[in-house]
Amino acid sequence: MSTFLILGASGNVGSVLSTTLEQAGHTVRRATSRPAGAGQVHVDLATGEGVGAALDGADAVFLLSPPGHMNQDVTLGRVIDEAVARGVKKAVLMTAMGADADPTAPLRKAELHLEASGLAWNVIRPNWFMQNFNSFWIHGITHHGAILLPTGNAKGSFIDSRDIADVAASLLQRSDLDGQAFDLTGGEPLDHDAVAAILSEVAGRTIRYQEVTPDEMRPGLLAAGLPADYTEFLLTILHFFKLGYSERVTDAVERITGKSPRRFQAYAQEYSAAFV
Ligand SMILES: NC(=O)c1ccc[n+]([C@@H]2O[C@H](COP(=O)([O-])OP(=O)(O)OC[C@H]3O[C@@H](n4cnc5c(N)ncnc54)[C@H](OP(=O)(O)O)[C@@H]3O)[C@@H](O)[C@H]2O)c1
Repeated sequence: MSTFLILGASGNVGSVLSTTLEQAGHTVRRATSRPAGAGQVHVDLATGEGVGAALDGADAVFLLSPPGHMNQDVTLGRVIDEAVARGVKKAVLMTAMGADADPTAPLRKAELHLEASGLAWNVIRPNWFMQNFNSFWIHGITHHGAILLPTGNAKGSFIDSRDIADVAASLLQRSDLDGQAFDLTGGEPLDHDAVAAILSEVAGRTIRYQEVTPDEMRPGLLAAGLPADYTEFLLTILHFFKLGYSERVTDAVERITGKSPRRFQAYAQEYSAAFV
C-alpha cells in the first residue's frame, strides 16, 4: 500500500480521487490551502507553504493548479522540485486539453518541468468538465434560464470529472503507462443547444443556450472574483472552443480505466437538483 498526496483534494477531481484511493487501502493526504483538519495537510500552492512537509514520506503525488492562478510553472515547479528532493517516486499532473499547444504557456512549462524532473510521471489533459454547468455556468442557468457562453455552435466532448478521477487513480497505482500524456474527453461531442436540451429535460423547465460576446461575459467573471489575467485566459480558451478545438474525442478514458466515459445525459440526471 502507498501514501499519496492529493492536491485539490476538496475539488471535483481530487475529492473522488482521494476516496477511491482510500477505498483501495492506501493512505491519502488531502491537501488544503485552508487550516488542515483530520486527514488533511496544509499546502498553499501560491506561496509554497507546507509543500515540503506534505510530500515527506509520500510515494506519489497528484498535481493540479487551482483555477485563478496563472503562474503554474512557478507554483507547480516548486512542488515538482520538492518532490524530487524528498524522494517521491511519481507524479500525475492534471493540466488541460490544448495545454501543449504553446511551449511558452505556463501550464506547458509545468508539464515540461515534470517530464524533465526524473520522477516517474503522467500528464492528463482533460477537456471541459461537465461539472462546469452545475458550478461556473450555473448563475445564468438559475437566474436567466440560459447557458451564457461565447462559444457559437461549436461542439465539446465534455468529460465528467469523476472519469478524470478514475483515470488519475489508475495511473497513480500502476507503472506500465509511465512517461505518457493523455488527452481525456467524454465520448460524444455536443453543442450548447444539445446540452441545453438535456438540462431542460432533467430540470423540467426550459433552459436555452444564448451566445454572448467575450465583452459581455467579462464583467460577470470579474465580478465573481476572477483575477483579470485569469479572466482573459478563460475568454481565450472559450474562443478556442468556438473555433472547434474542444470537439475531438479520444479513447484514453476507456483505454486506461476499462470503462466508457460517462454520458452527458447521465451526468445531467445525477446533478438534476442543481438545474431545477
Ligand atoms: N473546469 C474545467 O472545465 C477544466 C478543464 C480542463 C482542466 N481543468 C483544470 O482542472 C483544475 C481544477 O480541478 P478541479 O475542478 O478538480 O478543482 P476545483 O473543484 O476547482 O477545486 C480547486 C481545488 O484547489 C484547492 N486550492 C485552492 N487554492 C489553493 C491554493 N492556494 N493552494 C492549494 N490548493 C488550493 C481547493 O482546495 P482548498 O480550498 O481546500 O484549498 C480545491 O480543492 C484546474 O487546474 C483547471 O485548469 C478544468
